[in-house]
Amino acid sequence: MAAPPTSSFKSFQTNLTETKAHSTTTNGNPVSRGPSPNRGASIQDNEAIGSESVTQKSWLSEQGIDRSKWVMLRKLSHMRYQHENLDEITVFMRDFGMHVVKKTDTERWYSGYGPDQYVYYAREGPRKFLGGAFEVESYEDLEKAAEIHKDRLQTKGIEEIHSAPGGGHIVTITDPEGFPLNLIHGQTPTDPKQMPAKLIVNDESTKPRQRQFQRFQPGPAAVHKLGHFGLVSADFPALQKWYTQNFNIVPSDLLYVNLPSGERKEVALFAHLDRGQDLVDHHTIFLSTLTPDSSIPEPHVHHCSFEVHDFDTQALGHQWLAEKGYKNVWGVGRHILGSQIFDYWWDTSKFMVEHYADGDLVNEDTLVGYGPAGHEGLAVWGPDVPTEFLH
Ligand SMILES: [Fe+2]
Repeated sequence: MAAPPTSSFKSFQTNLTETKAHSTTTNGNPVSRGPSPNRGASIQDNEAIGSESVTQKSWLSEQGIDRSKWVMLRKLSHMRYQHENLDEITVFMRDFGMHVVKKTDTERWYSGYGPDQYVYYAREGPRKFLGGAFEVESYEDLEKAAEIHKDRLQTKGIEEIHSAPGGGHIVTITDPEGFPLNLIHGQTPTDPKQMPAKLIVNDESTKPRQRQFQRFQPGPAAVHKLGHFGLVSADFPALQKWYTQNFNIVPSDLLYVNLPSGERKEVALFAHLDRGQDLVDHHTIFLSTLTPDSSIPEPHVHHCSFEVHDFDTQALGHQWLAEKGYKNVWGVGRHILGSQIFDYWWDTSKFMVEHYADGDLVNEDTLVGYGPAGHEGLAVWGPDVPTEFLH
């Protein structure tokens, strides 16, 4: 079926964050609008971002970023956490859609069905965030990171990974706020795993599903891969500068508040990995600003997010986690920036984890979008944003 003409979706041409912010009346009720055959459309990236934007090239030059200094990240690989009770977190992670691929008395590695050996690592000990782990382009990138950040090393330079599935080498450094950042290289690839079957979907005019019935089985939403993680920082400008100057981390969206002086202050960054023309996830890392009303008064990890197959998978996974008595934070809903269908949960140590499906892809030609920060800009549909999400 041909895509709907974009002229019927004029409202999408302004920044969607803004559109959502202005779609309620003064008493908070939605503005009344007529019925439409379709409330959504897939819009070309730069048309959807709109005029409040700059090219990535001009943003990088404005910031005085020298690409030759970058340690090149190839992709996000896995998350690392420390938990008091490994058995408890293992039951949760299995209900969340992961498999244990290796266990020792004090460590566990959990996989999805994607190309990574593991997407989550847990170590026994007091509750602690141990950072995200990126796979770097080459061994030289590990050497470069260990040299440039020698004052920030947590590992003894480059260390060989002995115990983890797939092996490889690791360098762990701390960022300016003290968050660990893990860089790995040389992990052996996994054997291809079975991918889920794609559902055949009938709509009003195209009905390819003929004498085939939709049938589902209750159960966890199987995790494919790690998609992104986010940090809440005390000094957002410094942290943004550090990540974007030292690594191929480039903004997809920057959010701002307007100060009483009329000045704009940037408070959040959604960033992708610069892989040139290759398509990458809209955001792999995000940074936001600690606010005085945050329930955690110091810099902390906000959440990490794992990809699942589709909306039905996500809804089945939501039902499974709810029936097991876990605590939902927010979801199911649809984000605006990144477009993902989201579903956030507290794990058994009260770290936030997310299932997502249907996220946006960008490349070096996608514009950097600017938009006002605000709770109302977080989702186009879904439950109201709970205050505990803004922790
Ligand atoms: Fe997320």
